[in-house]
Amino acid sequence: MTTQYDAIVLGAGAAGLMCAAVAGQRGRRVLLIDHADEAGKKIVISGGGRCNFTNVRAGHDRYFSSNPHFAKSALSRYMAQDFIAMIDRYGIAWHEKTLGQLFCDGSSRQVVAMLLEECAKGAVELALGSGVQSVEHGDGLFRVACRDRLVSAPALVIATGGPSIPKMGATGFAYDLARRFGLKVVEPRPALVPLTLGGDETLFRSLTGVACDVIAGAGGTTFREAALFTHKGLSGPAILQVSSYWRHGEPVSINFLPSGEPGWLVEQKRSRPRGTVRSVLGAMLPDRLSAVLSERIGLDGELANLPDRKLSETERQLSNWRFIPNGTEGFAKAEVTGGGISTDGLSSQTMEARRVPGLYAIGEAVDVTGWLGGYNFQWAWASGWAAGQAL
Ligand code: FDA
Repeated sequence: MTTQYDAIVLGAGAAGLMCAAVAGQRGRRVLLIDHADEAGKKIVISGGGRCNFTNVRAGHDRYFSSNPHFAKSALSRYMAQDFIAMIDRYGIAWHEKTLGQLFCDGSSRQVVAMLLEECAKGAVELALGSGVQSVEHGDGLFRVACRDRLVSAPALVIATGGPSIPKMGATGFAYDLARRFGLKVVEPRPALVPLTLGGDETLFRSLTGVACDVIAGAGGTTFREAALFTHKGLSGPAILQVSSYWRHGEPVSINFLPSGEPGWLVEQKRSRPRGTVRSVLGAMLPDRLSAVLSERIGLDGELANLPDRKLSETERQLSNWRFIPNGTEGFAKAEVTGGGISTDGLSSQTMEARRVPGLYAIGEAVDVTGWLGGYNFQWAWASGWAAGQAL
């Protein structure tokens, strides 16, 4: 027997929970399906267990997509303040950590509990542990076969996220389904992901565990945050951010001394003529890093004996250290997926497929990806809300 609903939402993650709750509270009969046995698993592990649930600076310029304007509408209709208001209604304590990033004081499980409560208020039916076996479409209805039931609805929402962190149940299911309905998919790629180094750059591997404040750049975009050397290459917020803009074969630049004024090294020669490049860097950077960098620079001897021209060159080198990563740590370590269901075929107001009435796509499954820092959840909430209003 087939049970009929007004809407079926596939994926009980951040976007699916929000969408189902909003539609349910608008009186729609909603079924929310997930193959995992728990809703919102990525919310639970996010932000080191404290969920960086939004960013007060969330605007469309903090997202990348083949169509940078697509996210504007949803983000402006459901804003960080709207989600904060819900968090406050539930009495969940939070704090701003840095750069507009808001975290729970307690646990990210509070956010999942809140969203489940919102779903309960909308009488959303939850089917966890329900792998989707088939999806058919005809006569204005989507028919979904799960392990133990057949369901149908005039509206189907794809909210199954992207393939980042497959060991948490993440899949490319959204893309397969979207393609079946004639939607294009922008080549998915790991984003917010550590970069790996090979060849000449392996020297940096001796720095495993060293962190420092840098300006990192790739693809014309720069970020000033911490970088962390790992046994495979580079990570830390600055590197995760630029990884989203990096393409294979292109260089990444690092300014190791982001606070250095032009001419600072020549100035050091005047004030500390007996110093060396190594000792000057040692006073400004972690010791192991200054040792590796001065070895690479190869300027020996006291500053007093080094020409200003060489010191200016060294300064430029330190502020624009370029290297070509040999790859990334892939979807296994990527916090999000870049690319996804093309926005070309979707309405930016409702997230509905233009050519397939009743089919919607929201959250990470769509080709809209945010910076590190709560932006990806804000997109999940905003796109889920937009679709929830339209169902
Ligand atoms: P999400 O992945 O949350 O949900 C998709 C759901 O679909 C899952 O429940 C999955 O089980 C289900 N599913 C998948 N395939 C299915 C299938 N075939 N059948 C049925 N169900 C299926 N962002 C942020 O803003 N702040 C943060 O602090 C963090 N921290 C963070 C840490 C880590 C370790 C990761 C991996 C990611 C983050 N993120 C983040 C990113 C954030 O988690 C992500 O952008 C959102 O969860 C995306 O929400 P969605 O609902 O689109 O997908």
